[in-house]
Amino acid sequence: MKRLAIYPGSFDPITNGHMDIVERGLKLFDKLIVAILLNPGKTPLFTLDERIEMLTKSLAHFSDRIEIDSFNGLLVDYAMSRGAQGILRGLRATSDFEYEFQLALMNRKLNRKVETVFLMTGFRWIFTSSSIIKQAAQFGGDISDMVPELVQKRLKEKFA
Ligand code: PNS
Repeated sequence: MKRLAIYPGSFDPITNGHMDIVERGLKLFDKLIVAILLNPGKTPLFTLDERIEMLTKSLAHFSDRIEIDSFNGLLVDYAMSRGAQGILRGLRATSDFEYEFQLALMNRKLNRKVETVFLMTGFRWIFTSSSIIKQAAQFGGDISDMVPELVQKRLKEKFA
């Protein structure tokens, strides 16, 4: 049986921290579906198509071990519909823990067939987040070593 996990998130935009989790996740799972949540309550900086483009191009070297998709509704329902055994989440500094703990326990309560797997990001990315990167980029800060090259270009275009 192929081991399949969903790696869900907003990915607005993908960062090197996400890239690091994908790389680590592929050591445990045969395939990852990177799934963008379509969240009507949030106004993202990048459209869904823009986020798909950045994910697809940044993760192209993993070829068919990665699929990019989007979903709405409950994550566990999406995971079941895709036949995934796992949900992959990255953990950075301690501040992530409480929210991730709640999310994982709620997901377990909703569906016990899907296990959440946490992977710790590389130390370099421990304080990297999409929202902090967007703030820095908006005011011309150098974020070149925190995001893939294409994302850096797209952020520049967005804030030009
Ligand atoms: O990268 P993010 O924005 O922190 O990702 C959050 C995400 C997408 C994992 C979470 O919001 C989610 O799974 N939303 C879908 C709705 C759901 O199933 N929520 C958990 C149980 S209420």
